[in-house]
This record gives sequence, structure tokens and C-alpha cells, in this order.
Amino acid sequence: MKIHIAEHPLIGHKLTVLRDKNTHSPTFRQLTEEIVTLLAYEATREVKTVPATVITPVALYEGIELAEPRPVVVPILRAGLGMLEGMVRLMPTAEVGLLGMVRDHVTLQASTYANRLPENLKGRQCYILDPMLATGGTLIAAVEYLFEKGATEITIITILSAPEGIAALQEAFAGKDQQITLVTGAVDTKLNEHGYIVPGLGDAGDRLYGVV
Ligand code: URA
Repeated sequence: MKIHIAEHPLIGHKLTVLRDKNTHSPTFRQLTEEIVTLLAYEATREVKTVPATVITPVALYEGIELAEPRPVVVPILRAGLGMLEGMVRLMPTAEVGLLGMVRDHVTLQASTYANRLPENLKGRQCYILDPMLATGGTLIAAVEYLFEKGATEITIITILSAPEGIAALQEAFAGKDQQITLVTGAVDTKLNEHGYIVPGLGDAGDRLYGVV
């Protein structure tokens, strides 16, 4: 698994405000989108392109355009939804699939409760959005699900990651032929006994959308 940890002062600045418990939902949502757009720039570095020719007012220009089939962006509901706008702002022609996964607060096990994805993901570059890589359970289940549908190239974008979650992902997919890349805003210290990332930012879904 390839790992890219953002080292950019703007991301560091925005993350600090995001972590602050006094930052309210509207600002939290706005900052999440901005951070994701910055992360998406790095995450799409290997997006597939094909040659494309245009005529400028001056001359013929041989450039590139995104290849078909278009990439698929998959936010994990509910918190991943807060990252979607920041991602499609950078790649507006991507298709969007939805995956609803919930984590049992006692066992910390992830299960799927909804999905709306193309039946066949063969040859599609997939970008999974989930703000928090904690134990890794949800993301491992999501990656396995996309692999079952034929995906061979998956990039996971998270705002924060825990070392435990990174290790779990690495262990789960060690030796697999498929390509996995993790792009994250920061790697924090550890998980606490409740499965929260420390220092983290609390429950990302609640901070984006309130406690429902
Ligand atoms: N999910 C969250 O929203 N926050 C954490 O710290 C861990 C998992």
C-alpha cells in the first residue's frame, strides 16, 4: 500500500481549526471540503488520461483529457458525504457511487447498510472518501467490497488516520495484486479505548451533521 501524508502548511492550518472543539458545523463542513480539495490534488496524481487535441486561438495544441471509463468517487456514508463536494470540485466529471457503512460502537465491526455503485468496477479508478481511518474496519470492508466488484486501483482519502488503522489496512491487503493508495491529512498518535483517534477531532459525522 502506498501512503501519502500531506505536508502542507495550509492543510496543517485548516486541520488545526477543524480539530478545535469550538469549531461549529458550518465552518467544519467548509474546512472539510477545502482540505479534501487539497488532498484530492495529490490523490489524483495518477488519474488516467488520454491525448486530446484542441485548437487555441493561435495554434493546434496536443494536450490530455481524463480517460474513459471515468473515475468513481465513493463517499462512505454518513461522514464521507461531507468530503464529496471538495472532491468533485476538482474532478467534476467523475461518477459518484454511495456506500453506507456503520460501525458498531461496542464491537467496532463495520457492516454495509446501503450501496449504490456501478455493478462492474473493472478498469475504473476508485476514490473512497472517509474522514477518519481509525481501526480500519470500515475501510477494509469498503475496499474488499469494491475489489469484489472488479476494482483494481483504489485510492483512499482520509482527513486523519490512526497508526493502528494504517497497520490494519496494510495487513489486510499485504501481497494482493490490486493497488491501494492512502492519502491522508495527518497521522495522529493512537486510538483510545472507545476507538476514537487521539488527538483527533471527535466524531466526524456528528461534527459535520450534528448528533442524529
Ligand atoms: N470515527 C470518527 O468519527 N472519529 C474518530 O476519532 C474515529 C472514528
